Amino acid sequence: MSIEVAVIPAAGRGTRMRPATRVVPKALLTVIDRPAIQYAVEEAARAGATEAIVVVDLDAGHLIAQHFSLEGPLPGLEDVRVRPVVQEEPLGLGHAVAEAAHMVAGRPFFCLLSDNLVRPGHDVLPALADGSRDGEVSVVCLRPLDDDMLSKYGVVATGSDATEGYVELTGAVEKPGPEKAPSRLGLVGRYLFTPEIFGLLEDAEPGVGGEIQLTDAIDALGRKGRLRGWVAPTDLLDTGTPEGLLHASIVLGRHRYGDIVDDAV
Ligand code: UTP
Repeated sequence: MSIEVAVIPAAGRGTRMRPATRVVPKALLTVIDRPAIQYAVEEAARAGATEAIVVVDLDAGHLIAQHFSLEGPLPGLEDVRVRPVVQEEPLGLGHAVAEAAHMVAGRPFFCLLSDNLVRPGHDVLPALADGSRDGEVSVVCLRPLDDDMLSKYGVVATGSDATEGYVELTGAVEKPGPEKAPSRLGLVGRYLFTPEIFGLLEDAEPGVGGEIQLTDAIDALGRKGRLRGWVAPTDLLDTGTPEGLLHASIVLGRHRYGDIVDDAV
C-alpha cells in the first residue's frame, strides 16, 4: 500500500526548549546541518510520500514554509510538495492534526512528530503501511516505556500480549502515570491514520492539559476495533528537550562524522 501524504504538526510552543524557541520554532532547531522538520519530511519521502502538509503557527510558521520553498526545492526533496497549513492557536496536537483535514481530503496518511527522529537505517513508516490492511485500518508506532516515562507519553491498551511486531489495540490514555497505565507500550510520534480520525477529532473534548489530545481520538479508534500497533525494535530520538537534542546530535553526528565525535568525547 503506498501512502502519498504525510501530516507533520509543528505548531507547538516548544516551551521545554526555551530560550532557543523564543523566536525560532522548535521544528527549525538544527540537528547537525538541517532543521529537525527536514528530517521528518525526508523520512516521509523515503516511505513514498509525495505531499507533506506541515501544520505551522501564525507567528513563525512562514519561516518553516520558506525553508522548503526559498531558492527552489531542497536536494532529495524535488518530488515532495511541502504545503503549510496554519494552526492559529496551540490548542493541542489533536487540534493541529485536524487542521490538515481538508488538505488530506479523505486519504490515509502518515503523521510524524518532528521532534522525534528515527535513527539512521531504522525507518518505521514502511512497517506501519504494511500493517494497515491496504490503508483500511490505523497503525501506531509503539515502544516499551520505563515507569518514569508513563506520565510523559500516551500509553495504549492492548488486546494481546505482543512485545514485538504487530499488536491489536483496544484504546489509549494520555500521560496515565505508572499506576493507571493500561500497558507499558507508549505512542512515540509515528502514525498511519485512516481519514476516520478526523471525525473522532471533531468530537474530541479538551483532555489532559486542556488540549485537544490526539491520544483521545486514538483511544476512540481502539474502542471501535479500528486500531493496530507496531512495536518498533529501536527507540526514536527526542529533540524536544535540551538533553534529548544533545543526544540526537551525538547519535546522528557519530553516524555522519564518526571520528570527530569519538575524538571529542
Ligand atoms: P509537544 O507535546 O512536544 O508540545 O507537541 P510543544 O508545545 O511543541 O512543546 P513543549 O511541551 O511546550 O516543550 C508534540 C508535537 O505536536 C505539535 C508540536 O509542534 C510537536 O511537534 N503541536 C503541539 C502542535 O502542532 N500544536 C499544538 O497545539 C501542540
